[in-house]
Amino acid sequence: MGFVLVSAIWISGCAGGQLGKQNSEEYRNGMVVSASPDASKVGLDILKKGGNAVDAAVAVQFALAVVYPNAGNIGGGGFLVYRSAEGETNTLDFREKAGAAASRNMYLDSTGQPIVDKSLYGQLAAGVPGSVAGMITAHEKYGKLKWADLLEPAVQLARKGFAITARQAAELNDLRDKFVQFNPFGTALIKEGQWAKGDLLTQSELANTLEQIRDKGRAGFYEGAVADSLLLEMKRGGGILTKEDLKNYQAVWRNAVTGTYKGYRIITMPPPSSGGIALIQLLKSVAPYPLRKWGNHADSTVQVMVEAERRVYADRATHLGDPDFYAVPGKELMEDDYIRSRMKTFSWSKATASAVVKAGGIKGKEHEETTHFSIVDKAGNAVSVTTTLNGSYGAAVVVKGAGFLLNNEMDDFSVKPGSPNMYGLVGGEANAIAPGKRMLSSMTPTIIEKDRKLFMVVGTPGGSTIITSVFQTILNVIEFDQNMQQAVTSKRFHHQWLPDEVYIEEGALDSLNQSRLKSRGYILTPRGPIGRVDAILKTKWGYYQGGADPRGDDLSLGW
Ligand code: DON
Repeated sequence: MGFVLVSAIWISGCAGGQLGKQNSEEYRNGMVVSASPDASKVGLDILKKGGNAVDAAVAVQFALAVVYPNAGNIGGGGFLVYRSAEGETNTLDFREKAGAAASRNMYLDSTGQPIVDKSLYGQLAAGVPGSVAGMITAHEKYGKLKWADLLEPAVQLARKGFAITARQAAELNDLRDKFVQFNPFGTALIKEGQWAKGDLLTQSELANTLEQIRDKGRAGFYEGAVADSLLLEMKRGGGILTKEDLKNYQAVWRNAVTGTYKGYRIITMPPPSSGGIALIQLLKSVAPYPLRKWGNHADSTVQVMVEAERRVYADRATHLGDPDFYAVPGKELMEDDYIRSRMKTFSWSKATASAVVKAGGIKGKEHEETTHFSIVDKAGNAVSVTTTLNGSYGAAVVVKGAGFLLNNEMDDFSVKPGSPNMYGLVGGEANAIAPGKRMLSSMTPTIIEKDRKLFMVVGTPGGSTIITSVFQTILNVIEFDQNMQQAVTSKRFHHQWLPDEVYIEEGALDSLNQSRLKSRGYILTPRGPIGRVDAILKTKWGYYQGGADPRGDDLSLGW
């Protein structure tokens, strides 16, 4: 039995109706926070059966591929950050790769201009999927329970169906035309008439595929009938992925990127995600300033954070890419002297124009979907996973006969130097397309230690806004004394160098702070929800607090 410290308060009024609730209980034995109540239940069940955090992560990843098909996936990729109860840290890169036939200019027309939809929809938008290899690799190293038992809940959810939420019904209805366009043979995601909340979504082809993976492991996906279906799909729609691409795909263990912020140790994802390095750069950039004294969302606090973001995203555009292909100057970018020199040009009286900010010289929108989940087990092992198809429902292609969605991750490459991708991010040589290369990511799964003990597990979807959402959530706890749920619920703002605007969620900044910032030259642009953070905090009394984002149907469960 879990020890309940605080009586349950269910916060009503979040979208998603009955399911969109946040759990304000604190727990002793472990916790799962994910974007889907069904997936959180799967994860908690595994923990209660004696599975560790990696076992639960594997089960949640596959469950999300069924119950959260807009971002949960087997056809996409992601990153996992691990910290054992004893303090061992590790990260797993299961990011997609460009196929061997990919080439630098593959999404440009004859005049050298990007053909935007080509990297966003259809078979050609897909990179080699990494999620199945990732889960197998994680399980081989750290898993405790049997592989098949971790897959079974997902198989059942796909076979028997699950009740969709109001939000999912609306998304599926919105995307109907896209699905029809890219799936001439139909898919379980298309329904006669309109989807409604509570409708059962059954995915029998996906169930068959999950059974293959359950029974044959890697060969059940990268070889055999499932791989054949994917290859046929490539042929049908002009994709380039080959049998060898699938066979050769490997997930990679990489050393975590680490840094400190006021005594807290940040353990986060290295390249090919830009997220970890950028997060540490941001925290170091603001560390000298008295944010706590100024207060959360006060003009000075926002100004310093935005100016840090401007400089860090400029660095991202030039210096970050797949480390297997490009020498990323990670250490230099995070050095204290370098960060200090970057913030020197900041002036209180006037916003620095992004046009004059370039990457440092180094010697040496609302339909965005990805998903993050955070897990801690009874022993105190922690896992932080962000995983994605890139855009909502990826390339909009469901592999015929295999029932899973293709990613459209190729759009995360810099298709042309200086040309923005779907998140408005620009890039150059470091993130140019090359065969077998991984596209740069912003995903920032992170674990934080205090006094060498677990303190926080955090991450979010949100494309380019991922890094700044994680940044704000951490500051909300460390600087502004919010509990985990408050820190997640708190309104957000975002700046990414280009475009030179500060995006703000409704209610993030009051009118006084807005007018002060405007008078200094900041362009404030209102926008819809930013991010969907799912996080866990370990309190000083040793209990786990969940933060499930009310912007979605997310749910934290503990025991
Ligand atoms: O890897 C990345 O940075 C993007 N493909 C993530 C996409 C994303 O977060 C969309 N979500 N809301």
